[in-house]
Amino acid sequence: MTESIHPPVIDPTTVPAWENLMALAAELEGTTIRDLIDADPARASAQTHTAARVHLDLSRQRITPAILDQLLALADQTGVLALRDAMLAGQNINTTEGRAVLHTALRLPASVSLIVDGVDAVREVHDVLDRMGAFAGDVRSGRWQGATGERIAHVINIGIGGSDLGPAMARIALAAFATPDIDFHFVSNVDPTDISLALAACNPASTLVIVASKTFTTLETMTNAHAAREWIVSALGEAAVARHFAAVSTNTEKVIEFGIDPTLMFGFWDWVGGRYSMESSIGLSTMIAIGREGYDQLLAGFHAMDVHFATADPASNLPLLMGLVAVWNRDFLGVGTTAVLPYSQYLSRFPAYLQQLTMESNGKSVRRDGSAVGYPTGAIFWGEPGTNGQHSFYQLLHQGTTTVACDIVVIARSEDPLTDQQDMLVANALAQAAVLARGRTAEEVAADGTPLELVPHKVMPGNRPVSVIMVDRLDPYTLGALVALYEHSVMVQGAVWGIDSFDQWGVELGKKVALGILAALTGPAAGGFDPSTDASIALYRRLR
Ligand code: F6P
Repeated sequence: MTESIHPPVIDPTTVPAWENLMALAAELEGTTIRDLIDADPARASAQTHTAARVHLDLSRQRITPAILDQLLALADQTGVLALRDAMLAGQNINTTEGRAVLHTALRLPASVSLIVDGVDAVREVHDVLDRMGAFAGDVRSGRWQGATGERIAHVINIGIGGSDLGPAMARIALAAFATPDIDFHFVSNVDPTDISLALAACNPASTLVIVASKTFTTLETMTNAHAAREWIVSALGEAAVARHFAAVSTNTEKVIEFGIDPTLMFGFWDWVGGRYSMESSIGLSTMIAIGREGYDQLLAGFHAMDVHFATADPASNLPLLMGLVAVWNRDFLGVGTTAVLPYSQYLSRFPAYLQQLTMESNGKSVRRDGSAVGYPTGAIFWGEPGTNGQHSFYQLLHQGTTTVACDIVVIARSEDPLTDQQDMLVANALAQAAVLARGRTAEEVAADGTPLELVPHKVMPGNRPVSVIMVDRLDPYTLGALVALYEHSVMVQGAVWGIDSFDQWGVELGKKVALGILAALTGPAAGGFDPSTDASIALYRRLR
């Protein structure tokens, strides 16, 4: 067993910094982000911090140096850095599941060691990476062939949640670095359409199916995996399963039971949470796409941000500051939702990826010791790439009655040749950041010659908290660094709130109830649930 140290759970509202922050929030009434920006020409440089090629500009947040000081004091008084260190050392900080939280070990270089449960975790990680590298290399080069001797041209990753969102997001994000010889499909939904569309687009003889599931028991994944198995077997025969299936899991027994050759099983460990697993063997499809070298770059980017988080001065520590500003927005400014707005088509699935990371981690209302929180925790997280979002929901961001915090992600250099369009894209990103944060007053609108009756409609309240996150280029390294930035920011928020950011008990009950309802949808006994559910079941039975 990993050393079981349960860091003390502190109610953050009882520490002095909380009270100080309440007072600072009251003092800030009437002071807008525009006021703060205009009062200090050096603000942008003072509030921009850089690590692992990621530049985090917090100057459009509604914060002052005094607030930042107290947020750092809050981190200190709630033991955030102690929890960080316990996490990095492999202690059991996921207390409700009795597990260490060691996704950072997945990206440690082979030269170091980290003993977990008496075993060198880094050694194990690199053994798996080497096996993945060899297999991915064989698939990419065509040395690995299907049962009829064809090389692999299609990879279908079947998984859900953390076993899907990371690889699916990375596949799009790193498309410019991927082999053109293989197309990738990601099947997650138990909706029969998802697997049917993927199978229809592939030829069984040249398809590799990766069944990605930490537990290898998830209903959606196993149902889709069995459908894919039948598809392979009916086209190529039972013996073909060995050439066309690989598994990524912690559950060897179930993988063997499914009929997948253990030499094609790539393991990971229960100290890797599903939503923190995209760079474990769950990333096998990513490695097949971008090769071992590209994957090593991805790991290097993750690791560089980990090292920064572990060692940088708190006052310039990106994940720490980002997490603390998120707490400030949530608990002191009452901002309950964050839009992530990547100005990059390659990051089109990044918001979906972050939804699981942030909301499955911090959507909790009891602390680690089971006591109820008396303050808001995890914000609602969502988004769409710019500029598309501008022509859809930005109206509400600008003039709605709900304040939405915005993370605007900017990539300076495009992987694609049309640089004029890239400049146009970035101009839009920066324009939105300015307008959201600064707004436009009635005087400014009227000064444009706007008819009086239209002035109120054109006033932009501004004062929306905005972070601008910029990288020079979206490549494997910066993608790793960006994901690690968000991972650690989530950890910081959870640590302040005293919650377990690494469990997900809230998703269990629905799965259990669904199994009972499934029997009622088709079996002889249709009722037995609550009256609303019974009525819906009856209607479905009539319509199906
Ligand atoms: O339902 C939630 C969840 O447990 C996620 O945390 C996880 O990423 C997903 O299901 C998939 O689980 P598995 O990899 O075990 O199939």
